Amino acid sequence: MNILLVGSGGREHALALYLSKSKSCDKLYSYPGNPGIWKISEKAGKEIKSHSDYIGFCKENSIDLVVIGPEQPLADGLSDSLRQNGIAVFGPSKLAARLESSKGFAKDFMQKYKIPTASFKTFNKTEQDQATDYLRTANYPIVIKADGLAAGKGVIITNNFDESQNTLNQIFSGIFGEAGNAVVIEEFMEGEEASILAITDGKDYLLLPPSQDHKRIFDGDKGKNTGGMGAYSPAPIVNDNLLKQIENEIIIPAINGMSTEGTPFMGCLYAGLMIKDNKAKVVEFNVRFGDPETQAVLPLIKGDFVALVYSAAIGKLDKNKISILENNHCCCVVLASDGYPDNFEKGFEISGIDDAEKNGAFVFHAGTALRENKLVNSGGRVLGVTALGESLKQAVEKAYHYVELISFKNKYYRKDIGLKGLNRHFE
Ligand SMILES: Nc1ncnc2c1ncn2[C@@H]1O[C@H](COP(=O)(O)OP(=O)(O)O)[C@@H](O)[C@H]1O
Ligand SMILES: [Mg+2]
Repeated sequence: MNILLVGSGGREHALALYLSKSKSCDKLYSYPGNPGIWKISEKAGKEIKSHSDYIGFCKENSIDLVVIGPEQPLADGLSDSLRQNGIAVFGPSKLAARLESSKGFAKDFMQKYKIPTASFKTFNKTEQDQATDYLRTANYPIVIKADGLAAGKGVIITNNFDESQNTLNQIFSGIFGEAGNAVVIEEFMEGEEASILAITDGKDYLLLPPSQDHKRIFDGDKGKNTGGMGAYSPAPIVNDNLLKQIENEIIIPAINGMSTEGTPFMGCLYAGLMIKDNKAKVVEFNVRFGDPETQAVLPLIKGDFVALVYSAAIGKLDKNKISILENNHCCCVVLASDGYPDNFEKGFEISGIDDAEKNGAFVFHAGTALRENKLVNSGGRVLGVTALGESLKQAVEKAYHYVELISFKNKYYRKDIGLKGLNRHFE
């Protein structure tokens, strides 16, 4: 099978690795890709801008399956355009992608199908007075979210009425562009976060092992939000009982609900969860693999990943195409450019990746570039340094050992990836 992978981050490098290793994969193309992805796939030679460029590329290269990594092309309806041209796609339609591209849509959907989530109200730009009245008598902290895609920056937790007013003014005055034409204001949930990925064909589903991301820039979950500073899987907070609840109250109603709505969800459904007292509520849905969760989850699978995602893409999920490695744990530590998520310097040469890989690491590229044949940092999150272990402790120790083998000027990383899971093992 010939495959085109769309995207250019750490998540896509992990996808590229498991797609390319599958026995059903003949040729893997990538667009736009990154230096890590180009090592294991063929970089699409020409620039692809429009949906018709994608269709043209697929026809010219006899592509049997397109795997779409990021949310933006899904929200833009790339899946629909490809499917209309007879090309199989792993990734939901534009209408199904509203589960991520409109937080208001997702909340109304959850309410309708009784999926546990924070209580909420939505207001559009013309309803600022009503939103203000609502916020005057609300309990704080309260969470204000831009409705649309805002690159992980559209959620603000406010501690009092004044803060909430500032936030509301900023969002409605356009700091997030059109994504802020409406807001969701929701109850603040206490607890610990975890995520779960479900591969689905719109009817049936396969759960991948639960994981935990580390969103904040500093150790101990301090400082600003980032794209994610590391992840590990499986996350022991999701015990067997909780997993059953998540399946029965969240995953199954979500898949069935989308189907009832006439917009079946095909692809990877990501449920971001808040867990308290062994009960999970949905923080958000994403409509694609998580980053960096994917880097910590895919190393735990074995089998024909291509056959799995293809079966989902054509509406005939075959869960037996892969299995989960028993008694294995995975930890991914993100190496970032110091200063991220604000300003940071680019262009520093990276060394030691080969050494780490020889020792067993998976090193997933995110913000890297080739300059005069040298690999340099080009983004905030640069690499995802990943290790498998027979215990979480071993996976974490190995990942941090590999981290030491890789160097570039201004390398920054969190020292506590996996700690929540380790502490829980000793409870
Ligand atoms: N209702 C809530 N209660 C507490 N924390 C929340 C709530 N909603 C969001 N958050 C926090 O904000 C982060 C980002 O919110 P999320 O809905 O996942 O949006 P996005 O990932 O699109 O920025 C969450 O990971 C969580 O830490
Ligand atoms: Mg999120």
